[in-house]
Amino acid sequence: MQDKFSKIGFILAVAGSAVGLGNAWKFPYLVGQNGGSAFVLLYLFLTFFIGLTIFFGEVAIGKLSESDPVNAFKKLAITNKNGWKFAGFTMLGAIILVSFYTVVIGWIFKYAFMVLTNLPADIETSAAIFTDFVSKDVSSQILFFTITNIICFYIVSKGIKSGIERVNVWLMPSLLVLVIAMLAYSVTMDGFIQSAKFLLVPDFTKITFDSVLTALGLAFFTLSLGVGVIIVYSANLPNNTNLVSSSIIIVIINVIMGILIGLVIFTFVFEFGAEPSQGVGLVFISLPTLFAKLGAFGHIFAFALFTALIFAGITSAISMLEPFTYYLIREFGFTRKKALVSIAAFVYIAGILCIFSNIEGVKENLVFFGKSLFDCLDYLVSNIIMPIGGITVSVFVGFVIKKEALRELYGPYMSKFMFDLWYFMIRYIAPIAIAVISVNAILS
Ligand code: PHE
Repeated sequence: MQDKFSKIGFILAVAGSAVGLGNAWKFPYLVGQNGGSAFVLLYLFLTFFIGLTIFFGEVAIGKLSESDPVNAFKKLAITNKNGWKFAGFTMLGAIILVSFYTVVIGWIFKYAFMVLTNLPADIETSAAIFTDFVSKDVSSQILFFTITNIICFYIVSKGIKSGIERVNVWLMPSLLVLVIAMLAYSVTMDGFIQSAKFLLVPDFTKITFDSVLTALGLAFFTLSLGVGVIIVYSANLPNNTNLVSSSIIIVIINVIMGILIGLVIFTFVFEFGAEPSQGVGLVFISLPTLFAKLGAFGHIFAFALFTALIFAGITSAISMLEPFTYYLIREFGFTRKKALVSIAAFVYIAGILCIFSNIEGVKENLVFFGKSLFDCLDYLVSNIIMPIGGITVSVFVGFVIKKEALRELYGPYMSKFMFDLWYFMIRYIAPIAIAVISVNAILS
């Protein structure tokens, strides 16, 4: 198969998948809600211990099988191949995810345009604009959702190398430039020191069991684990890639981008005395009012921030489309276009239903288990499918794949001690930790 990533393309594409709205939107508001730096530290710890462990597991499944998720499990299982192949269907979680993820990217698109001319001066006006948009403005939401999806599907239709890789090679460095430019400006503000303290000087008294659970969920989400993405990207890895250093670089890029974006956002929060723990509305409601205080330059800054969020979001959304596309191509001989058209039909309907599930007058009909369809799907993916995906990966790699095959794969890049440690973690620690979070999240 020639349509593989280059080495640097692989790193940028996986980092592109990892760095997304999870880092740029969820991370800051969760840090704010969970008391700051101690939560950051927890998140880092869990990312490197549990997240990286599963990450190596998914890379192994992808690289050893060079297949789509379903056939990867089938190919590598020694017994019960037909049972194990179902583990690959957690990739459907990525398709559900992309349906509402692109709705949120659509909101960001709308905001990128809006902030060029209109920055609300106070929180009440800003909250009213956001609430009105999400609960009343069907046509703009559908328009921006459609634009986002046309972009994402078009990129994936071009294949791995000329589509996914090429876009990541452009967007990831551009994202970095935008973030560094914003950071350079933030450093000159008084709020920066407070922001750095808030994010980087830990206060362990703030850690509760709940924040441990939230941090593990976030680590999982931001590393794009449990839904087949890392498996499929690794199936298209060039030979002789140093799997270990590439994975570590990716994870480091992921956490650094989260922290840098967090530093920028909290500089504004502290500079203008806003509340760090305000939750989901942080980016859409509070930030525009803070930028308004910068005068004309605020418009440019706000536009840069929302553009950065669009870049981060798009490189993640395209990664969600690839596992199932790759499966349809390999299993049923679909062309890439035909596979994508079938997926687009689902994503479009599910996404529009998600939009309607927030719209006044209609939303009452789209409530399931006491939640809007939007929240329901988010819950299904983050609290059910991803943890199941993580546990199946760890059990499969820890107990089903031959240890020898793993040693051959990782031996050249890991010391014996590191390999044994990883093997122990993936067999026992990771699945138990994930089981504990998910059961807790479901019960609470
Ligand atoms: N990692 C992405 C983010 O942080 C989300 C994602 C999850 C992407 C699962 C692909 C698969 O936003």
